[in-house]
Amino acid sequence: MTKRDTRTLPKAELHVHAEGTLEPEMVFALAAKNGVALPYADIDDLRSRYSFSNLQEFLDLYYACTAVLVTRDDFRDLAAAYLERAAHDGVRHVELFFDPQAHTARGVAIDDVLDGLLDAFRQAEADHGITGGLILCVMRHLPADDAMATLESVAHRAGDLLAIGMDSSEVGFPAAPFGAVYARAQELGLHAVAHAGEEGDPSYVWSALDDLRVQRVDHGIRSLEDPALVERLVADGITLTVCPLSNVRLAVTPDLADHPLPRMLELGVLATVNSDDPAYFGGYIDDNFRAVRTSLGLDDAALASLARNSITGAFASADRKAELLAGVDAWLDAPQ
Ligand code: ADE
Ligand code: ZN
Repeated sequence: MTKRDTRTLPKAELHVHAEGTLEPEMVFALAAKNGVALPYADIDDLRSRYSFSNLQEFLDLYYACTAVLVTRDDFRDLAAAYLERAAHDGVRHVELFFDPQAHTARGVAIDDVLDGLLDAFRQAEADHGITGGLILCVMRHLPADDAMATLESVAHRAGDLLAIGMDSSEVGFPAAPFGAVYARAQELGLHAVAHAGEEGDPSYVWSALDDLRVQRVDHGIRSLEDPALVERLVADGITLTVCPLSNVRLAVTPDLADHPLPRMLELGVLATVNSDDPAYFGGYIDDNFRAVRTSLGLDDAALASLARNSITGAFASADRKAELLAGVDAWLDAPQ
């Protein structure tokens, strides 16, 4: 039986970091334009360092590269390149993470970050009909006060954001101190998501649910180690934004063939497939879909379920979700 083209499967991407779409070519082009000195000889030298044995090794390089992003146009060009590529991969709705603290700490104005990213979304909607928006991530290795100050600095622009998120180093950096930040975000009308259960054990996922009151968990793959947690995720209909190629590149899973994604679907967990930091992990969303098809033996019905989960878990209107879900049905129903 022929396999359907995964690129024509309508889907939402719910876990992708704007800064993680920064390709090495753009790193060097922006460094030259903005006069930023880089500790890498050239593009090949930079690329040769894309081999990580854990999350922290990756984050150190990722934050170093963000130094080249300076102006509103830089943020627009970054997101525009990603959205163009996403459209090509059948992504119809995008919820894009960004790390304001990585930029404001260098003196970049948060309005320039927001405006640049929003410029790209407006263009992608006009060009490709892509919907979506921005998720402001606070970094869990920095103090909660810093996160609160960042959130307050954009409180008057809460309408330009979809949600609050939390990322960066996980183990040893508990979520509970950020409870007040998430409560404030909720007061501002934002949805709530957080990275948890990537390197951290199931207690980190429990804390995201109970202390931060998140509606989705980013990664969450270690949840499977705790049957009571799986039961809670299923009962509450919590979407997990899973990133298979990222998990392999950051040594969270030894091999893609051992990835827990099929088990998640079997257990009724609302798993989705996403790219996380595609410029660093060897693949955009379609590469992830094709990799799980090949390495995990997922058939077209399973791939359609993953796409459906991404749409139902999105912070989109009911009408938009219905339209996209109809597209998934049409993909699966099309004669082969
Ligand atoms: N920031 C960018 N990618 C991340 C990841 N995979 N985990 C935590 N923080 C991140
Ligand atoms: Zn991530």
